[in-house]
Amino acid sequence: MRKLLIAGNWKMNQGPEDTAQFFEALATSKPADISRIDAAVCPPFISLPEAKNGNAKLPDIAIGAQNVSSEENGAFTGEVSATMLKELNCDYAITGHSERREYFGETDAQICKKNLKALEHGLTPITCVGEVLDQRKSERHFKVVEEQLTGVMKGFSKEQAEKTVVAYEPVWAIGTGETATPDQAQEMHKFIREILGKMFGDQTAEKIRILYGGSMKPGNAAELIDQPDVDGGLIGGASLKSDSYSELLKIAQEKSG
Ligand code: 13P
Repeated sequence: MRKLLIAGNWKMNQGPEDTAQFFEALATSKPADISRIDAAVCPPFISLPEAKNGNAKLPDIAIGAQNVSSEENGAFTGEVSATMLKELNCDYAITGHSERREYFGETDAQICKKNLKALEHGLTPITCVGEVLDQRKSERHFKVVEEQLTGVMKGFSKEQAEKTVVAYEPVWAIGTGETATPDQAQEMHKFIREILGKMFGDQTAEKIRILYGGSMKPGNAAELIDQPDVDGGLIGGASLKSDSYSELLKIAQEKSG
């Protein structure tokens, strides 16, 4: 059985002070028992030391970064290495988010290198795929997602694939309030699992978690994670406040009962 993962992507929100406050508030709002699920928040790099403090008090809330360098160390101005992230207790690194692809020109090949570097250092990549609206309207969404997925996991062993989390984030649903319907999400997640099956074998594909991302919130999370191939969420806006993040944890824990 795949364990649900509820991961918050804070994007460029919440500096160190807000992060400390988030964890303080979370200590009271978090459901007491979230043992059946995995939970993580991914603050900006600068807030990771505060998140590390928070994680020391709330060990069931793992932490992750929103990016990771594909390089080991050295003259790469502005980059942050996997080793540095491990030093701050990170378990996860988001890679290839559509905002990184769109605004910073990241390619599937670069994202693949980041994934391999993360895995080499024991970080779990949460690697993102998803089509833009035009691609869906012209019914190219399956092809686009297949290309991205095969690109960002190119050359992976089965072991590396198993340790990777895939996030399907239809770009038209990110920050727009418009969510993929549960059927649309399931249709694509099932397709992703089929591609993973072709790449790594069905047994491995069955073990890989596929998260949904795009305007997921307490009001729609239950019906999305009810879908057989939706293994949790990568949540932007609704993960910024401890109350709604806690609500998402509660829903996932109940659904895992
Ligand atoms: P929203 O939940 O704000 O739509 O963001 C989704 C997302 O991009 C998570 O990575």
